[in-house]
Amino acid sequence: MAANAVIQTSNLTKVYSGGKPALDQLSLSVNRGEIFGYLGPNGAGKTTTIRLLLDLIRPTSGSAAIFGMDVNAQSVEIRKRVGFLPGELNLWDRLTAREIVNYLGNLRGGVNTPYVNQLAERLSFDLSKKVRTYSTGNKRKLGLILALMNKPDLLILDEPSSGLDPLMQQTFNQLMLEAKADGCTIFLSSHVLSEVQAICDRVGILNAGKLITVESVERLTRADFRRVTLRFRSPVAPTLVSGVQGVTSVSADQPNVLSLQLQGDFDPLLKAINGQYVQDITVTEPTLEDIFLTYYGSQPATNNHRVAEKV
Ligand SMILES: Nc1ncnc2c1ncn2[C@@H]1O[C@H](COP(=O)(O)OP(=O)(O)OP(=O)(O)O)[C@@H](O)[C@H]1O
Ligand SMILES: [Mg+2]
Repeated sequence: MAANAVIQTSNLTKVYSGGKPALDQLSLSVNRGEIFGYLGPNGAGKTTTIRLLLDLIRPTSGSAAIFGMDVNAQSVEIRKRVGFLPGELNLWDRLTAREIVNYLGNLRGGVNTPYVNQLAERLSFDLSKKVRTYSTGNKRKLGLILALMNKPDLLILDEPSSGLDPLMQQTFNQLMLEAKADGCTIFLSSHVLSEVQAICDRVGILNAGKLITVESVERLTRADFRRVTLRFRSPVAPTLVSGVQGVTSVSADQPNVLSLQLQGDFDPLLKAINGQYVQDITVTEPTLEDIFLTYYGSQPATNNHRVAEKV
């Protein structure tokens, strides 16, 4: 195990019922103090990975360690230091949020009420209501409070910001950056690319149970392709640029506008359009979404199967 790895998996594999592996030979390290984003389409195996890490399900083969301890053999020790937000929160409907906070907090060695109140205030969350009356987004907020309130060394969050409105998304991002500044390591799965781009240090991209790439967000967004839009004075045919070195994904949005993806130098493209009157050129860096799509290709996501989890 690498000295600074907080999570380490080795060929971790889960086959649910004799079918294709939901997770296929995952070998991944998450370093101390980083925010690691775990991305993938529906059914990619994100929740499966998280449930294996928390010892809620057992691997078919392979192993995983957290803080250098085996997730199965030492799960009780590990859980004391982990804050977990499941993808689907399954709580006691008839208790109030405050009662749940106090109950779970006391199980974990005490409730830091001022901190809980501060979290609730920042999330605009009312702790006094019964759980069954909360909206999806508000249940998510309660889940976040429960995950954060004991100041864990590691946070494992399954799509933490799903259901949060844009303002709350900002607050969530800040909470994550503050937890990181406090030395917390964060592993979160997400579909929200802007969130991942804003707060993560590295991302792993998973598709159909296989880890496709692990890369720093900075490196991913510095990929050597960009989107180029050319506006001409007169209509042009896409064939003007479609065979040019480095040019792919040409589309004509309007008769006189061509959009394309360019890899490498600009010169071949400029030579190809020489002779046309160019009114405007815009060049945009790829978003994580563009990059994400180039990794996913057109492969369809497998079916979405969710399992509710207890906190
Ligand atoms: N309990 C289960 N029994 C059988 N198959 C399951 C079970 N849980 C998940 N799967 C299957 O395993 C695969 C991975 O599912 P998983 O829930 O890990 O994906 P995910 O990446 O979390 O997707 P999403 O983004 O929709 O949450 C899917 O094909 C899913 O149908
Ligand atoms: Mg999931």
